[in-house]
Amino acid sequence: MATDSTPQDVRADAAADTAYAVGWPAIDQLHAECDACLATLERATPAEQVDALALLFSHLLDHFGAEEALMQASDYPRFDCHKREHDAVLRVVARVRPLCEAGDHNIPVRLATEFPQWFGVHASTMDAALAAWLREQSAAPDTPA
Ligand SMILES: [Fe+2]
Ligand SMILES: [Fe+2]
Repeated sequence: MATDSTPQDVRADAAADTAYAVGWPAIDQLHAECDACLATLERATPAEQVDALALLFSHLLDHFGAEEALMQASDYPRFDCHKREHDAVLRVVARVRPLCEAGDHNIPVRLATEFPQWFGVHASTMDAALAAWLREQSAAPDTPA
């Protein structure tokens, strides 16, 4: 089995079972992919870190964008608060890449080890609340025609 991962491999290999599962399959898949991107970054050699950071950032744009689309499509009442947290994380991750390119190979490792702490809290609070809202909305009876 090859040990080098491409972005497509990471996405394809990501299983739906994850420590960050919230019980909404589309979000659980994104969380499994996020976990895989973090593992790729954690394992990256210094020469691989910039690509691994790009992979994580690209994933986060998709991940957060998909959750925000679900919120907007369902008129989620806490959209602004949730999006603010996504945006703050994107700003942090974006700042790591230029530092890594300038030769700081410790900061991507710190990101890979510290990100899961934030992710665990975010998934179990904001994302879990979103999943509960989506379940509630999908269980609601259809409006009569
Ligand atoms: Fe999420
Ligand atoms: Fe989220």
